Amino acid sequence: MELSIFLFLAVLMGLLLLLVKGRPKGHGHLPPGPHPLPFLGNILQMDRGGLLKSFLRLREKYGDVFTVYLGRRPVVMLCGIEAIKEALVDQAEDFSGRGKIAMVEPVFQGYGVIFANGNRWKTLRRFSLATMRDFGMGKRSVEERIQEEAQCLVEELQKSKGALLDPSFLFQSITANIISSIVFGKRFHYRDEEFLKLLNLFYQSFSLTSSLSGQLFELFSDFLKFFPGAHRQVYKNLEEINGFIGRSVEEHRETLDPSAPRDLIDAYLLRMEKEKSNPHSEFNQKNLILNTLSLFVAGTETTSTTLRYGFLLMLKYPHVAERVHKEIEQVIGMRRPPALDDRVKMPYTDAVIHEIQRFADLLPLAVPHMVTKDTHFQGYIIPKNTEVFPILNSALRDPRYFEKPDAFNPEHFLDASGALKKNEAFIPFSLGKRICLGEGIAKAELFLFFTTILQSFSLASPMAPGDIDLTPQESGLGKIPRTYQIRFLPH
Ligand code: HEM
Repeated sequence: MELSIFLFLAVLMGLLLLLVKGRPKGHGHLPPGPHPLPFLGNILQMDRGGLLKSFLRLREKYGDVFTVYLGRRPVVMLCGIEAIKEALVDQAEDFSGRGKIAMVEPVFQGYGVIFANGNRWKTLRRFSLATMRDFGMGKRSVEERIQEEAQCLVEELQKSKGALLDPSFLFQSITANIISSIVFGKRFHYRDEEFLKLLNLFYQSFSLTSSLSGQLFELFSDFLKFFPGAHRQVYKNLEEINGFIGRSVEEHRETLDPSAPRDLIDAYLLRMEKEKSNPHSEFNQKNLILNTLSLFVAGTETTSTTLRYGFLLMLKYPHVAERVHKEIEQVIGMRRPPALDDRVKMPYTDAVIHEIQRFADLLPLAVPHMVTKDTHFQGYIIPKNTEVFPILNSALRDPRYFEKPDAFNPEHFLDASGALKKNEAFIPFSLGKRICLGEGIAKAELFLFFTTILQSFSLASPMAPGDIDLTPQESGLGKIPRTYQIRFLPH
């Protein structure tokens, strides 16, 4: 449906409710913010450019901590590394709840590690971390798996013989295969029809959720959910992926060997069996499907989109790609595959990957948090269950921490002697108890995939660097780069 029609219907419905309902109820002592309209909240303060732009504008007026009503929901915004740290680290437990993303709420319904709360979340987070460690670091380490996948990718790219290609689905395939080998115990062939279908469903869902209509849905889901729109497509897509996961779980059940669990699903099934007499156990079928979906979604789109941004940046700034290639030649050479130990000896490459992540700003609003109890913060009282958005973008693009925050400049992470310079405002994985559960895997993937590709290929674009547009295609929940074509030319 056209955005303007959505908006019109939303306003109409709001006015009707205004007649019936009255003003929003008082809420503790929330941080300041623009005055909300009943039901419509702060719609009048929203920028056509989307939620992030709107919040950054409001920050100019209200400071680093303020309240915005998304429809009827008050949401506390945290801007700048200081406020984000004060909340997510210094008051970690209070801010460790998870809020909702309206587009995916009907699928997850509070199940699975990303969207769970309370005891369910603690149980699933502990289990997921421990089993990812076991099956990621066991006989074959994550490092080895990524190295093997990177070699498969090199072979596939060699087959392209330097033809122009859109790298999106290959980057999705390699990242999906890493998480898949840990969770499902297998990797997929790049031309496997079912795999390609799944990847397409992921890609479409992430784009729709990040689109402008996805953001509008975040404001008025109570009402818009009754109408056709992107949310229905996202629901259908994720349910289709769940169908795939369900079939895979059944196959695992049939071949389960209790003495030798092969992957995360096996480990989960064994826990389910062990706890079957406990009616309150979190190890039930629903959590199994939705926890698997959580890891699969979170582990695929994030890292692959970052790689996609990374190679677009390398096309735009070929001298950076050239310097990385030189460092690879000096430290690794051209004969053996890159290993994680190489990273400490490659400060320039490390700085480039940091800068790619900073510039890509993949999840500019993080994932919504929620306070777990009435919370005293900076003199305000945030009532239990109020949502909180840590605006990661405001730290990653903070001019006090990065000299040219809107430019791509690896020097942001290098000191005068050329060594890697850490920066406390670099928080692409967020902070605190909800910090990205896949941070270690993601960092290993980014380093090994990036260096293996640049070790084997030089890059070429049909566009002149000056014409390459770095502004994102979508900027909502996620920032998604424009699609592009690239040639991988063997060295
Ligand atoms: C470049 C890649 C990645 C980035 C930038 C990223 C970033 C994030 C961010 C910002 C969050 C939200 C943290 C918060 O709520 O404050 C998150 C959560 C999460 N990420 Fe990642 N992530 C990446 C890769 C991965 C990978 C590879 C996996 C899985 C193997 C993963 C699994 C998760 C999970 C399960 C959560 C939810 C944690 C919880 O709610 O307790 N992520 N990630």
